[in-house]
Order: sequence, then C-alpha cells, then structure tokens
Amino acid sequence: MTGAGGVGKTTLAANLGYEVARLGYRVVIFDLDPQGSINVACRLNKTPAPKATTAWLYSGFFDGNYTLIPAWQEYVKMLEIMQGGGALFKVMANLAQPGGITLLKDALTEYPLPHDLMIFDCPATLEHIPKSALAAATHLLIPLMPDAKAVDGTRVLLDWYAASVQELQLNNPPPFLGFVINNVEDGAEHQRLSRQLPPGYQARGYQVFPLIRHYTAFINAWSEGVPLRINRKTHPALEPLGAIVDAIVKELGGKKRGKAKSNGRG
Ligand SMILES: Nc1ncnc2c1ncn2[C@@H]1O[C@H](COP(=O)(O)OP(=O)(O)O)[C@@H](O)[C@H]1O
Ligand SMILES: [Mg+2]
Repeated sequence: MTGAGGVGKTTLAANLGYEVARLGYRVVIFDLDPQGSINVACRLNKTPAPKATTAWLYSGFFDGNYTLIPAWQEYVKMLEIMQGGGALFKVMANLAQPGGITLLKDALTEYPLPHDLMIFDCPATLEHIPKSALAAATHLLIPLMPDAKAVDGTRVLLDWYAASVQELQLNNPPPFLGFVINNVEDGAEHQRLSRQLPPGYQARGYQVFPLIRHYTAFINAWSEGVPLRINRKTHPALEPLGAIVDAIVKELGGKKRGKAKSNGRG
C-alpha cells in the first residue's frame, strides 16, 4: 500500500507474486482496488461478476466461496488472483458500518486459504479498504516514487498507520516489511531523493530495499500482460525484486504449505 497512485503497487504485487510462486510457493493476490488494474497486468477477464471479486468478501454474505483465477499458468502453477474492480464501490458503505473494517480478516479467518503468501494490492486512497487490509495483514510493503508527491504520501501513510493501529486496537500491528523506491528516473530530483530518503527511513528502523529504476521493460511486460521475467529473461530489475523476494521468503520461514510444485518453466 501507499498514499499515492501510480507508484508501482500493482507492478510489485504481480511481479513479486510471480517471483515467489516461481520458487514453489502457493501465492494468491487479492486485488482490493476498484480500478482492478491487476486484470491488465495479468491478462485476465476485465468484467468478472461482483460475486467473483473481492467485493464479495465485503458483501456481508460471504460464504467461503473464493473465486480464484489462475494467472500465468503457462509459467507457474500456484499464482491465483481474486479480482477487484468496480464492484468494490458498491461495498464501501458496508465497510463504513461497525465491524466493516474486519470483514476481510474475518473472511480469511473463518474460511482459511491454503496459500503460503497472500498479497493485498491496495488502492491509492487511505480509506476503508486499506484499513481492512491493515487489519488482515502480517506485513506492509510500501512502494514510493522519489518525487515530492509520493514522499508526502509516505508521510501521510505513516500518520495514517499510527492512527489506524490505535483505532483498530491492533495488539500486534503488522510491521513494515520495507520501503521500495521505484520507477527512479535520471532527472535531478529523482536522483537526489533516492539518495536522501533511505537514510531517513533507516534511521527510523525501516528497511529500505534496493531501488528499482525506471525501465521500459516494465511497461512492455504490463502491456503484454506478462511478468517482467517473461518479457525479459535476464533483466537488471530482477535483482532488486529478488531482494524483496528474499525478505518475503525469510518471513515464510522456508515453509511451503502447498503441495503443488513448480513446473520448472519460466
Ligand atoms: N520501475 C518501473 N519502470 C517503468 N515503469 C514502471 C515501473 N514501475 C511501474 N511502472 C509503470 O507505472 C504504471 C503504474 O504502475 P502501477 O503498478 O499500476 O502503480 P499503482 O498500482 O501504484 O497505481 C504502470 O504502467 C507500470 O507499468
Ligand atoms: Mg494499482
């Protein structure tokens, strides 16, 4: 999550999901964004029925029937998506009701999934949906772009986090897995901020992952609906992505709950 749009949340969700699935873990991505942009990134049908989306989790009628769509099946066996999209607009009122914020957590507690890793791809606004993800999450990953807008967004996010943790009375609030400075261009501001920001975050005890530069390959992969690694077998961005994958795998404790094995391709 982040307090800013277009910073790479969905790009990271899709590529990290793919990279972790590739190692043989079972991964599910929950698209919690009314924009539903994971559908483009993973080349999925763009008009799922509302009951087949994450909106169903917030409907008040959820019956444990998760509609999980396999993604990139030709390359990995265990990456599934619960699609988001416009249906989420219709459940916003439910989220505002008492108990609404814990609907996602309640669904996953009452009807547990077998996956090793669940990724919640959040919308940019810090409203009810990200709060419900906060209540359900074990770790937060924060992408940001090194520009004034996103930096401000991160400050707002940290305030929002502190306030939300209190409001939700989370005894064990999800820690920050880390920050990812993404889409770094050659311009002076990007270069300056991507040098200046990490020490500040690190001084406050946050992990900062190796930065990810602006690469046209991300845009090409997106428009082809494939992960970066499929668009480009070897690509310099796979290294910083790998550092995040390592941190995730470390948190998973090396345990693979799922039985499915990687088919070895990709
Ligand atoms: N490192 C990068 N280099 C080039 N383009 C990127 C990079 N990261 C993201 N993008 C592109 O930026 C756009 C917005 O990214 P997206 O992941 O949708 O952001 P968000 O989910 O935060 O709104 C997409 O078109 C994506 O392909
Ligand atoms: Mg997105």
